[in-house]
Amino acid sequence: MERIVIKGGQKLRGTVKVSGSKNASLAVMAAASLPAGVSTLRNVPKLKDIETMGRILGVLGPRLKQHGNVLTIDATCYREHLAPYELIRTMRASIYVLGATLARVGRAQVSLPGGCAIGERPIDLHLKGLRALGVKVEIKHGYIKAEVKRRRGGKVNLRGPHGSSVGATVNTLLVAVLAEGKTIIDGAAREPDVVDCVDFLCAAGARIKGSGTARLVIEGVRELVGTEYSMAADRIEAGTYLVAAAMTGGTVRVTNCPVRHMKKVLAVLEKTGCSLRVQGQAVTLRRSGKLKPFNVRVAPYPGFPTDLQAQFTALAAITPGRSVIRETIFEGRFMHVAELRRMGAKIEVEGGEVIVDGGNELSGAVVMASDLRASAALILAGLVGRGWTAVRRIYHLDRGYEDMVGKLRKLGASISRKKEKNH
Ligand code: UD1
Repeated sequence: MERIVIKGGQKLRGTVKVSGSKNASLAVMAAASLPAGVSTLRNVPKLKDIETMGRILGVLGPRLKQHGNVLTIDATCYREHLAPYELIRTMRASIYVLGATLARVGRAQVSLPGGCAIGERPIDLHLKGLRALGVKVEIKHGYIKAEVKRRRGGKVNLRGPHGSSVGATVNTLLVAVLAEGKTIIDGAAREPDVVDCVDFLCAAGARIKGSGTARLVIEGVRELVGTEYSMAADRIEAGTYLVAAAMTGGTVRVTNCPVRHMKKVLAVLEKTGCSLRVQGQAVTLRRSGKLKPFNVRVAPYPGFPTDLQAQFTALAAITPGRSVIRETIFEGRFMHVAELRRMGAKIEVEGGEVIVDGGNELSGAVVMASDLRASAALILAGLVGRGWTAVRRIYHLDRGYEDMVGKLRKLGASISRKKEKNH
């Protein structure tokens, strides 16, 4: 096992290029398993989660190869229906193989994804979407067992108590595109990752209208054909580097930045007093004066993303005054708070709100990452903490950030990976 060790206090300067979107890649990998042929996906980040998804699909039949950021999926053969617990448990998005397997094989037995450090993550909306398309589903012995004799279009509303669900929208889409007749999904997630999935499916021959809106209308087709597709840039990674620049007080140019998907995030950064210059797909952030406090409410897209809540909490911790961040999507997503407090941050969690009385200097400490975005928040805090910070359990980070250590080093951070001494 490794840890990340950071010496705080370096201002970041220079240019960093954002990688392809992790979440979009995972959805598109499942979608690329629908055509009985070969698809080539470009701009796919090299990440543990992508590897995991590749291994799960590999068990079911498709053959995947990643060379650099190009991933080929040969799904000519898709014959297995059992996705075992050992593979599914590490990654929530592996539930996408439920939809893909039903579309290709007509039945699926997929382990229930395990619990997660960010709170309860039900699958009722996934099941609702599939049932609307004629799928029979039961949960037995920790597995979702699903079967469909005749996939037929249907009408379903996927809006849940916390808004729409990215995962349920993708799973329903995967079955609907190859079902007989028309499907209408209301309350569909509008996240750019879903749009990428829809765009890929349409390039492969699917007929989907309403991309990026809450109503998707799908006319089923008999088959899809393998195609080429390039993944959009990762808005969460882009946001993380912009926060790093704001926190360290340097000037950083973030290129390949999905600006049009980041309006809310850029608006909050502007409120903190940072100056932002947008030129095409590049954003340059410069912090000249003192940071100013901010209030944020997390919401489904186009709202402020829950996947940046932890990083902005780290920013609030060094921002003089009171900032309030309301989490509305994952009520348990505050595991980073206790670790940030160990670095000297003054943060309270009340109900779904993180109340941060910021401005005091953070001090380096040994901290433990609890999930992917929490890891990023701790690294950001380490960049400004006095002295040394060691972030443990960095396998979470490797799931979702392509070469974060290398990218931060290029910007001037004093950061490296070290072998854990006691493991
Ligand atoms: C995806 C993202 C994740 C992001 C999240 C919200 C991937 C691989 N992951 O996760 O990074 O944080 O969207 O933007 O793309 N819900 C239900 N019933 C369900 C499914 C979800 O009530 O059947 C609830 C969830 O508990 C949550 C909300 O709906 O409160 C949104 O979850 P969802 O969009 O499904 O998240 P994921 O697709 O798992």
